[in-house]
Amino acid sequence: MDQFIMKGGTPLRGEVVIGGAKNAALGIIAGALLTDDDVIIENLPDVRDVNVMLEALKEIGARVDRTDRHTVTINASDVSAVSIDDEFIRKIRASYYFIGALLGKYHRACVPLPGGCAIGSRPIDQHIKGFRALGTEVQIRNGCVQAEAKNGLTAAHIYLDVVSVGATINIMLAASLAEGRTIIENVAKEPHIVDVANFLNSMGANIKGAGTDTIRIQGVKRLHGTDYPVIPDQIEAGTFMCAAAATRGDILIKNVIPKHLESISAKLLEMGNTIYEYDEAVRVIGSQHQRATDVKTLPYPGFPTDMQPQISVTLALASGTSVVTESIFENRFKYVDELARMGSSIKVEGNVSVIDGVSGFTGASVNALDLRAGAALVIAGLSAEGITVVNEIGFIQRGYEHFEQKLQKLGAQIELVSNDREAQKFRLKVS
Ligand code: EPZ
Repeated sequence: MDQFIMKGGTPLRGEVVIGGAKNAALGIIAGALLTDDDVIIENLPDVRDVNVMLEALKEIGARVDRTDRHTVTINASDVSAVSIDDEFIRKIRASYYFIGALLGKYHRACVPLPGGCAIGSRPIDQHIKGFRALGTEVQIRNGCVQAEAKNGLTAAHIYLDVVSVGATINIMLAASLAEGRTIIENVAKEPHIVDVANFLNSMGANIKGAGTDTIRIQGVKRLHGTDYPVIPDQIEAGTFMCAAAATRGDILIKNVIPKHLESISAKLLEMGNTIYEYDEAVRVIGSQHQRATDVKTLPYPGFPTDMQPQISVTLALASGTSVVTESIFENRFKYVDELARMGSSIKVEGNVSVIDGVSGFTGASVNALDLRAGAALVIAGLSAEGITVVNEIGFIQRGYEHFEQKLQKLGAQIELVSNDREAQKFRLKVS
């Protein structure tokens, strides 16, 4: 079972280049189904969730040519099935984007209910509400979403009861080819929503308002091919920003859009860190005396829920008491028990955690329980005294490309090990 093993205490220093946004790439990959022309996607992150989505496209007959780790050409003209079902696709959240795309192009879809990080119940009722409003019959049978629009898709005025990234993207995918003018209100405004809308518009869609509370889609008859680069990943960038603060390091984080990082920068500045912003980079210099502050996760442009574990680890090493409120998911504090094994002092009551900062962590063996929790535990291990082993790193590899290699280049003593012998060799090397 692969693990990350690390010896903490070294401030991370140097430069890191951020990859493409996983949560934009997943919607864009599904969107390639909407045309029979070649779709070239660049700046694709080479992470497990992306690779699972590409494999699923191949299974239904699409041609997928990976020209390099970060570039793929997809052609869906020979797609012969609208039913996707394999053990891997059931494990990822973004499988649901195949429903919107297959419905949009073929008016039918049969896709397993999504998996993904266990951070809450994660229903898809808003997705289904949108599909039904567009004229689709949807039923859940044998663990799959079976959807069919017998008379094709027609425009609708949809009000989302919950601000949902997935539902916003999924309804955009389905409505791009739907006859008439669809309006979706109370939509998510994350950078990856705007990126998927820009991608669809580069294929000839007519989508306006992405990034605001209301998206208007004028359906078109067909979409054509495109060559589209994915935006940089705001959460990967934020993770390295917290790593700089937590290890009291100094990291120049390159290939980012600073505006997407504003809420993260604001919190790190409140804590006493120094941040320099450039056109496509941010530099974070970790303060030796980090101060406590309060954080509440909110839909963009609020503080991202996907950064909650990482900022919490940083706060757990600050002096003073911080309060973190997780307002998006109902079960996103599971990492707190793992962090307690390293000496943190955090109390969780419902969706609020109260963090009493400690002077330092000690290394321990901990489990990554989900993608971002795993990344947060690595930050904790790199800040701790002694050796930390993070287990279940498959979660981390779902969303971070070559995480340990990027950290090594910043001076981290960390390795990916596959057995006890390799772990022992690491321990001897760093002792
Ligand atoms: C996406 O998940 C991301 N995943 C998540 O990132 C991210 O945490 C989340 O958006 C919020 O930003 C992908 O893009 C693959 P939501 P998603 O629909 O679409 C409720 C990561 O770490 N809701 O915005 O599932 C839901 O329960 C992952 O990269 C409904 O009630 O999130 C949650 O409380 C983790 N009904 C809230 O809305 C619905 O139909 C936000 O969920 C849909 C959602």
